[in-house]
Amino acid sequence: MPHRPASALSRRTLLRAGGAAIAATALGGTGLAAPDVGALKAGLAGPAPVTAAGDLVEVELIAKQRMLRILPEPAGPSPLITYADSFPGPIIRMRKGQRLRATLVNGLDEHTSIHWHGIRLPNLEDGVPYLTQPPTKPGERHVYEFTPPDAGSFFFHPHCNTVELLGRGLAGVLIVEEPDAPKVDADVVCLVKDWQLDKTGTFGTFMTDRGASRAGTFGSVSTVNGAIEPVIEVPANGDIRARLYNIDSTRVVDLRVEGAEAWIVAVDGNPLPPRPLDGWPMGPAMRIDVLFRAPAKAGQTLRLTNVYSAEPRPLATFRAVGPSLPNKRFKPRALPASAIPEPDLKDAPIIPMAFSATAVAQSFDAAALPGLPYADALCLSAKTFWAINQQSWPEGGHERLPPPLVTLEKGRSYIFELANLTPHLHPIHIHGYTFKVLSSDARKVVPHHADTVLLEPKERLRVAIKADNPGDWMFHCHIIEHQDTGMMGYIRVA
Ligand code: C2O
Ligand code: CU
Repeated sequence: MPHRPASALSRRTLLRAGGAAIAATALGGTGLAAPDVGALKAGLAGPAPVTAAGDLVEVELIAKQRMLRILPEPAGPSPLITYADSFPGPIIRMRKGQRLRATLVNGLDEHTSIHWHGIRLPNLEDGVPYLTQPPTKPGERHVYEFTPPDAGSFFFHPHCNTVELLGRGLAGVLIVEEPDAPKVDADVVCLVKDWQLDKTGTFGTFMTDRGASRAGTFGSVSTVNGAIEPVIEVPANGDIRARLYNIDSTRVVDLRVEGAEAWIVAVDGNPLPPRPLDGWPMGPAMRIDVLFRAPAKAGQTLRLTNVYSAEPRPLATFRAVGPSLPNKRFKPRALPASAIPEPDLKDAPIIPMAFSATAVAQSFDAAALPGLPYADALCLSAKTFWAINQQSWPEGGHERLPPPLVTLEKGRSYIFELANLTPHLHPIHIHGYTFKVLSSDARKVVPHHADTVLLEPKERLRVAIKADNPGDWMFHCHIIEHQDTGMMGYIRVA
């Protein structure tokens, strides 16, 4: 794998995400909320930001099991799997233009890799075992290096056995800051995630046939930043940018900041003209950045709720602290535009992508396909319930990659017509690209860019890309049980 020499870089910053260094910087001047006192007492640190001032941001990510507390006592701590000594952790913050060098250290007893969700990066850095790299074996290291081309709120996670690993917490946050973003008084991260835990803090079953073949298996405990209904402190009367992530494996959420006027300013990290936060359902992996004004006086609160379910459910509380900041007019301004290449729609062929239940067992001409030298059962499900264009990701036992769903000509623009033939929701994600969302036959679409789009039951949604980034790119549902039982494939750009 080609790695650029470090000598070209003027300054370097080494950050150890797996150890104590990160904890020392946990609250340092980044505007991140202090951890909830209750959560602190319970031994769970709040988000641990990683920041760097040089041209190169280096971070070591040690994937391993750590006993961390999600449930309050008398439950015990739970055997999470994380990249750092806390959940959530780490939060990597870098500026647009900086280069990231991230070393994965595999402290698990299975192979793994890191996929950088939402980043338009070179294919070899994309972190999909077998497809873009050999899996990193237990005890091995793998270095990823790339310069994110876009600012935004991204995250990263493994791409194999994801149902268990993500279920146990293996994900981290990557924030790329705009150099010229409108100023805010605080920038907070809220990761919404459920956990499959019993009363004692023991993990239950992450995948069931019933769930996998329907809407998914839901967790039993809902949290923000790994804490149950945490209190997130914000400066009184301050303008707050909240990066709201749905990193759950299954649940769709529709978030509100109750008691404040809140505006969406970015979707999956991509700026859009500010619009009120009033109905933006987010499937697994989807993110929005919102702006709101904190309560005027210390002690006053706002609530983060999920209104997707029949009854709105409280997720967290924002509590104003400190002296009230001077009054100024609250005016959500647009974030600086990103440089996603504009697809040429006049010249764009329409590629149908049909998401359905499995029709018949798929067969393909294995002899005509490239070898898969590292194949094992870990990335291949024993069962298949779902398909894309009637092709299911191979069932257990297959030792070769399936052919790509489609091969696109590099440099050309394409429209995907995503057709949901099922009665379930599917958040559809593409690697290495950002969709321009065009239109739907079921609803009025707000023009925006996204790396993951939520397909409603029976909906047909059109999205476009300019195929400028060569390689083999995964294309899949981000309800992890659906992904793991067939609703996954890849496109080839050559
Ligand atoms: Cu977050 Cu292949 O995905
Ligand atoms: Cu799905």
